[in-house]
Amino acid sequence: MLEVSADAGKALCRLDEIPDGGARAVDIDSSTGGFSLILLRRGDQVFAYHNECPHAGRRLDWAPGKFLIKDGTVICAAHGATFDIPTGAVLGGPCRNGLAPVPLRVAGGVVVLP
Ligand code: FES
Repeated sequence: MLEVSADAGKALCRLDEIPDGGARAVDIDSSTGGFSLILLRRGDQVFAYHNECPHAGRRLDWAPGKFLIKDGTVICAAHGATFDIPTGAVLGGPCRNGLAPVPLRVAGGVVVLP
C-alpha cells in the first residue's frame, strides 16, 4: 500500500504501472481508515474515482484491483451499473448517480494528487 497524506503533491503510482486502456486500484491511507481509488488510463490521461459504486456502496472491482472495462466504460462488478470512463457519468444499470471523481495530475510519468 502506497501511503498518501492529505497534503498536496503525493505520488500514487507511476503512469506505466497502469495498463493503457485498463485500470488499477490504489489504497489511500487516511486518519479515517483509508479508502480505495480506481485509476483508469487512456494514453497519457488518467481518470480517478472513488472505488465505490453509488448504487449500494460496493467496490467496483470483482477482486482487488480487477475491474470490468468494456468499450470506454467501467462496469460495477456487484450489479452491473455502467459508467463512462472520462466523466464517471452513469450510462446504465441500477445506479442513478455517477462516480465520485478525484482530481489528479500526471507529472514526469508519475500520477499525483494535486
Ligand atoms: S453496487 Fe454497483 S450496481 Fe449495485
